[in-house]
Amino acid sequence: MSTIIDAIINRSAKRAFLPKPLPRDIQEKILKAAAMTPSGANMQPWITYAISNEKVLKNIGDAIIQKMNSGVKNDQFIQYYPLNSKALYKKRRIETGVGLYALMGVERKDIQTRTKMWQDNFRWFGAQTVFFVFTDKAMIENAQGVLIDCGAYMQTIMLAAQEFGIESCPQGSTTEFGKVVADVLNVPDNLALLYSVVLGYEDKDAKINTYQPKRVNLDENVVFI
Ligand SMILES: Cc1cc2nc3c(=O)[nH]c(=O)nc-3n(C[C@H](O)[C@H](O)[C@H](O)COP(=O)(O)O)c2cc1C
Repeated sequence: MSTIIDAIINRSAKRAFLPKPLPRDIQEKILKAAAMTPSGANMQPWITYAISNEKVLKNIGDAIIQKMNSGVKNDQFIQYYPLNSKALYKKRRIETGVGLYALMGVERKDIQTRTKMWQDNFRWFGAQTVFFVFTDKAMIENAQGVLIDCGAYMQTIMLAAQEFGIESCPQGSTTEFGKVVADVLNVPDNLALLYSVVLGYEDKDAKINTYQPKRVNLDENVVFI
């Protein structure tokens, strides 16, 4: 049995999955564990659509890709990346992207392959289940606390999944097209999409799944006093 530290260290974002369904009882176990995520005053502000219906997932992906292809950059409820990123974070972000493309032998100027790789997000990397996490719009109107709660919820989903040999990829790419997702799913008007998490059985032969970006040392972002 793995320890919590093992689960934390062993998890990494996977971007190639086997075409194998994720049983409903495992989804429920993961979601029951995730429901135990602490939230401010126990508000539990997450509302999750756990989707395994192939047609529905295809419809969401088609709608997003169509929107992207028509030149729309985003259609979202929240802005994930800062519009003016500080150099430090921009550098880390670029390094992470460059590392992934280098591993896959994709050149910088090969925009077509890079776009295809990004659009794989909306084909769910071949996985058959995606959790779309919404919150009530009123919760993000003039406050950001709910983002802390729902971020913790994301990590609990991914760690709980490890217990069942299920891998995952968190997605801010869907955040950018949150209104498209909400529209296709016809969710109640009060809901705003925050992110999604792809879940499934990792394709262990896929090179892309070996990518594990390093973290900076503690002395770069921890202050002991
Ligand atoms: C909020 C959030 C959004 C993310 N969005 C995407 C995404 O849309 N597509 C993707 O391939 N990876 C996405 N990732 C995965 C990150 O790139 C990845 O977690 C990071 O590079 C660290 O790598 P690791 O998870 O493998 O340790 C996202 C991660 C987080 C936490």
